[in-house]
Amino acid sequence: MKYPKEYLDEIKTRLKVSNVVSRSVTLKKRGKEFVGLSPFKNEKTPSFTVNDDKGFYHCFSTSEHGNIFDFVMKTQNFKFGEAVKYLANLAGMRPYTFSQEDQIRENKWKNYSSLYSDYVSFYHEEILKNQEANVAREYLKLRKLNSQDVKRFKIGYIKKNSNFYDKIKDKYDDKFLKECGLFFYDEKRKNFIERFRERIIFPINSLTGYPIGFGGRVIQKNSKLAKYINSPETEFFKKGNNLYNLDKARKLSNSLNEIFLVEGYMDVIGMVKNGIENCVANLGTALTNKQIIILNQFFDEIIICFDSDESGYKAAYRAAENLIKELKPEKQITFLFLPEGEDPDSYVNENGKEMFLEYFSKNKISIHEFIFRYYKKQTTNSPSSLAIFEKNLRKVAKNIDDEFIKKYVLEYFLENISELTPHSSYKNKNFSFKHTKSLKSTQKYFIETKSFSQIELKEFSFLYLILNNLDLMKKNISMIENVKLFSQENEIIFEEILNKLKLESNLVKEHLNIDEQLFDKILRFSPIKHILKNKNNEEEILKLLDEIIKDLKNYELELRIQDLESKFSKDFSETTFNEIKELKKSQKFN
Ligand code: UTP
Ligand code: MN
Repeated sequence: MKYPKEYLDEIKTRLKVSNVVSRSVTLKKRGKEFVGLSPFKNEKTPSFTVNDDKGFYHCFSTSEHGNIFDFVMKTQNFKFGEAVKYLANLAGMRPYTFSQEDQIRENKWKNYSSLYSDYVSFYHEEILKNQEANVAREYLKLRKLNSQDVKRFKIGYIKKNSNFYDKIKDKYDDKFLKECGLFFYDEKRKNFIERFRERIIFPINSLTGYPIGFGGRVIQKNSKLAKYINSPETEFFKKGNNLYNLDKARKLSNSLNEIFLVEGYMDVIGMVKNGIENCVANLGTALTNKQIIILNQFFDEIIICFDSDESGYKAAYRAAENLIKELKPEKQITFLFLPEGEDPDSYVNENGKEMFLEYFSKNKISIHEFIFRYYKKQTTNSPSSLAIFEKNLRKVAKNIDDEFIKKYVLEYFLENISELTPHSSYKNKNFSFKHTKSLKSTQKYFIETKSFSQIELKEFSFLYLILNNLDLMKKNISMIENVKLFSQENEIIFEEILNKLKLESNLVKEHLNIDEQLFDKILRFSPIKHILKNKNNEEEILKLLDEIIKDLKNYELELRIQDLESKFSKDFSETTFNEIKELKKSQKFN
């Protein structure tokens, strides 16, 4: 059995080699590449390199060489199938199971993607050459698009009496064509009608570059029709999972850290043609967390730049309130508001790239700053208004998942509220933080932790608690001795600690044989240190430790369950089934 090429390509598209490798090897950036100590050899000077542009790693001391699949097969002793499963999971994709349904879906996808490619090419040719598409060409010229731009985005135009159905009806069955999203079906007359007739169409591509949906704009002035319509959801086009231009923009992620997220198709095109190519748009619907997760697979900083009108501002706030809940310490979300009445397309066309970027660097605000300002706008100086203001902000902070970000944002809010009311006694009564000092230090930390994965940070916290409570750990060794860590480096440290804990009676940190750099990393980056008080009692420490262990175990269980599930789909054995059931039970129990 073979995995479809598109499936494997999508995994490779979503995961940079450096992302995969850095889960087990510490990498340092050197020019376009990353270097680190070879996982294939015990060495003191780094001879192991990773190149994201080319999609492979190379070890100069052992000549080991390959892509992400090779890497996990070799370092984790996986078979190819296991490597695919493991990496698909990392990439946030569904497992491929070789079931009959997968086969059917696969065939359907082949039809869908060939139909869509033909449709795109046909109407693209028409807009370039057909006499009757003149109106469309004129319109695009007015919008400052030249034929280069039209080609780059494969824009098309469906002229009045054109019907693509007639051209392809013999190749596909009607049931498929009714569901494909390109046509309306008139039940009475039993005929197919072009959904995007008399519209300019903007093809929306999948992450791997195949057209899967469209946005269509009317070109007549004063039309009663909606200005834009978008493809309906189909089996292969889910609006909340896709973004316009992501297939092209993601290729820049090896050299750029940030992506501009705008509202419209024309905004993307305007930005790109002015030289800001790291730009995508959501598809006429509210921004989803899934879209953010996908963007974060490629870019660390997302800059949300919606239109500067009432609806753009509201959409931005809705996005902010929703996204801050799931914000991760290693990621950043920034907002940019253009001058009144402008959208990214109009602003960048008038002012060019340099001015746009300058405006950006002067006016960008972080997500928590934006939320703060949003509520502040609605607040007067009266005590009751201020009280509501604080309450709203505390509520926003309280809903944040990540403990560290929660603390950081709350600190930021409270400090800024207290600055709003410098002379009132309000300040002293309500806040027990020493604001400024800790804020600076957490801010620095916030930036530095960007290079670690969530699970690594969890492991740092785990080790941090142990290292600072060695006596307590000796008494409670059964609690920790079966924990499994995922990063090789952390696992080595953990083994060393466990061994010494078992052997020595009054173990102190200094007796541990741990690489100083690694030791330092744990002390500096473990998120837990920010939520520890000066003196936590033993009970509190054990409770925190227990929570972390549960998280780590659940991560391990999740990986094992996925392995077993795909095994089950092949062997249908009762033992595998029971094993999965047991694991799921213990996962709940955890
Ligand atoms: P805008 O109305 O801001 O349009 O809608 P725009 O991008 O500035 O377009 P131009 O410059 O007038 O051509 C922004 C986005 O909202 C969705 C579309 O995705 C559009 O790109 N939209 C807008 C719709 O889905 N339907 C509409 O009727 C209008
Ligand atoms: Mn516009």
